[in-house]
Amino acid sequence: MPWLSYKGGEEICYIRNFITPPQNALDVNPTPSPRKLNEPDYKSLRRVMSSSLAIETKDLGRIYKLRGSKKETRRELVALEGVNLTVERGELFGLLGPNGAGKTTLIKVLTTLLSPTSGWARVAGADVTAEPESVRQKINMVSGGESSGYGLLTVRENLWMFSQFYGVPSKEANERIEALLEMVGMKDRMHTKSSDLSTGLRQKMNIVRGFLTEPEVLFLDEPTLGLDVGAMRDVRRFILEWLKAYKERTLLLTTHYMMEADELCDRVAIINKGKVLACDKPSVLKQRLQKDALFEIEVSPLNGLTQQMLVDQPEVAKAAVSETETGAKLSLSLVEESALARVINLFTQSDVKVMNLSKREPTLEDVFVDLVGRNMAEEESNGAG
Ligand SMILES: Nc1ncnc2c1ncn2[C@@H]1O[C@H](COP(=O)(O)OP(=O)(O)O)[C@@H](O)[C@H]1O
Ligand SMILES: [Mg+2]
Repeated sequence: MPWLSYKGGEEICYIRNFITPPQNALDVNPTPSPRKLNEPDYKSLRRVMSSSLAIETKDLGRIYKLRGSKKETRRELVALEGVNLTVERGELFGLLGPNGAGKTTLIKVLTTLLSPTSGWARVAGADVTAEPESVRQKINMVSGGESSGYGLLTVRENLWMFSQFYGVPSKEANERIEALLEMVGMKDRMHTKSSDLSTGLRQKMNIVRGFLTEPEVLFLDEPTLGLDVGAMRDVRRFILEWLKAYKERTLLLTTHYMMEADELCDRVAIINKGKVLACDKPSVLKQRLQKDALFEIEVSPLNGLTQQMLVDQPEVAKAAVSETETGAKLSLSLVEESALARVINLFTQSDVKVMNLSKREPTLEDVFVDLVGRNMAEEESNGAG
């Protein structure tokens, strides 16, 4: 067939392998030999596992071997360590963490593209290492920012081709393609060549590709990465609508957008440097911080007033200061609301004017700061991983 011979041929192999693989075809970083010492009897453990789980991992780890120019310079990078997660069928589960946290690595292990170095994982009732083909038949995966799709083909042709790799009957595939494109507001683009699509529309097409095979478990790695606000909103709404229509399907998405995880996910695992730090409903995670009162204050230039001077006030638990065009923005976490009066007093003494003051609810960003001691952006610039 002609499309096998042109540039995109490699990816076709990839998609094919996804269904009928040579084992670990994409594992560019071969797995070190499995641990032997003190290894628990996973087989007997698996027997007692509940089949209602869509995803289950136990002490899952992944180490990358980094190749230096000389043999002695070889290093190991621990990308995942001791990950224990369970995701129920029907859940929309989020993996939230900064760049380099290990989110993509975890998705690759769960989708059988990468072998774990330690521990085990089951997806849709099958073990990712022992039964990869069984897992692959029941899942699908889309990565944000991927440039998949064949430019010469139209949107409909691209999607139809992928549906055929999964053995969806042609007539049914066409019906699903129309319905899904309608849902993402792209029906009028059905006959547009995919090379003529904007980034946002191409990403929507890729996402449709993920849903097209009606997978038991769908993995979306940063589905809204690089999209404009409108396209982001469309993609999020589409995800929620689809899950409403297919209640028993499970969706695991990764994101480094706090609001996205908060807005979409039933439960969220906060992951940093390969470890899961907390896992619960967003509301429960935020409740941990509800004991502190959070205030945002916009002020005129600080006139020498420092973050430390604010934190030194009794009952001020945390203070973050950022400069703005007109002065500064302060984010305060107060053990007692009465501390606010002392802070305001401090402003008056330094001739700093309060322009805006609001009390706010905690966000997942606050949860991350509480767990890690730094916000996500700082953690990234400090070279997580
Ligand atoms: N193929 C690879 N070889 C070596 N290191 C890798 C490879 N892929 C990812 N890493 C490293 O593993 C860590 C986790 O990466 P990744 O899973 O991509 O994180 P995230 O998706 O959360 O941004 C990072 O430090 C990254 O540099
Ligand atoms: Mg990633």
